[in-house]
Amino acid sequence: MPMRALVVDPDAPGSLHRGTVDEPRPAPHELLLDVRHISLNRGEVAFTHLFPAGTVHGHDASGVVVRAAADGTGPAEGTRVAAFGAGAWAQRMAVDTAAVAEVPDRVDLADAAALPLAGVTALRALRSRPILGRRVLITGAAGGVGRFAVRLAALGGAHVIASVGSAARAAGLIEAGAHEVVVGLEGVDRPVDLVVDNVGGPQLAEAWGLLAPGGDVQGVGSASGEPAVFAPNSLFSPGRTKTISSFGDGAGFGSDLAVLLGFVAAGRLSPHVGWRGSWDRVAEAAQALLDRRIAGKAVLDVEPAAG
Ligand SMILES: NC(=O)c1ccc[n+]([C@@H]2O[C@H](COP(=O)([O-])OP(=O)(O)OC[C@H]3O[C@@H](n4cnc5c(N)ncnc54)[C@H](OP(=O)(O)O)[C@@H]3O)[C@@H](O)[C@H]2O)c1
Repeated sequence: MPMRALVVDPDAPGSLHRGTVDEPRPAPHELLLDVRHISLNRGEVAFTHLFPAGTVHGHDASGVVVRAAADGTGPAEGTRVAAFGAGAWAQRMAVDTAAVAEVPDRVDLADAAALPLAGVTALRALRSRPILGRRVLITGAAGGVGRFAVRLAALGGAHVIASVGSAARAAGLIEAGAHEVVVGLEGVDRPVDLVVDNVGGPQLAEAWGLLAPGGDVQGVGSASGEPAVFAPNSLFSPGRTKTISSFGDGAGFGSDLAVLLGFVAAGRLSPHVGWRGSWDRVAEAAQALLDRRIAGKAVLDVEPAAG
């Protein structure tokens, strides 16, 4: 069956065009999803051109199961789910049943599409250290991963310091749970126990200098695109070991996604959707994301497949 999809095309604006491709054929451990909403992530938008031409792009989706997995795992036909996997920006997606989670009745399906990569990344970064009563610094706090991290760190009992690029980007972060909002790292006057770093570059080297003994910098991303240069000997410090860690492991995604959906259903987490529109407008949304004009997440509505 043919379907519409956002396909990598080096000659199109933003290296993406909406074209027609064959519906995916699910492997035995995959279900077939009727995609209703998708969300954009900076990494996939900034690096679309690095994917082979013809690739169905994107990783975050929500929708309704049209065919359950042949191996008997995962949700039944008709279940509303959020999903993470390659080929998400299409009317139909084949996705591993271990990478989906059922969307509770009281959770809006569009909000669910905002969660997968950014939400699970924030959750996993915050699990690197116990955060109850600890000082947690989140850089790029106005962005997709950052806003989830602010809220989740507050839920985990941390003292949350949200760092933004400019004062205008601070809107809503105190309401989300930040105890302090700073521009850059200006005014962070005491050591922090955990840094969730989305920005990289010189700010990463500066954040390292703020880390308390025993602390960890979770190097989630490098939205700045700039190199981080550490002064000679600045990585050494006396006392308990300090670390910089990173991760990119997709295993067990569905169970972490279910945790987040549970928080949303309980009213404890609210995805911040700063841009919403039809997937016809994907180039506009992608440019706004790259220009740092979107607070939180961009969610796009997908027209349902025929039949
Ligand atoms: N490791 C993983 O598994 C993983 C998963 C998801 C994302 N990532 C990476 O994590 C980073 C954040 O992702 P995201 O989806 O949250 O991105 P996003 O929504 O675009 O947010 C990025 C934030 O970085 C800030 N920033 C500071 N300097 C910047 C600069 N020079 N250019 C652009 N942004 C700058 C922006 O701050 P202001 O809003 O204050 O301007 C923005 O809020 C990206 O590098 C992404 O590739 C990694």
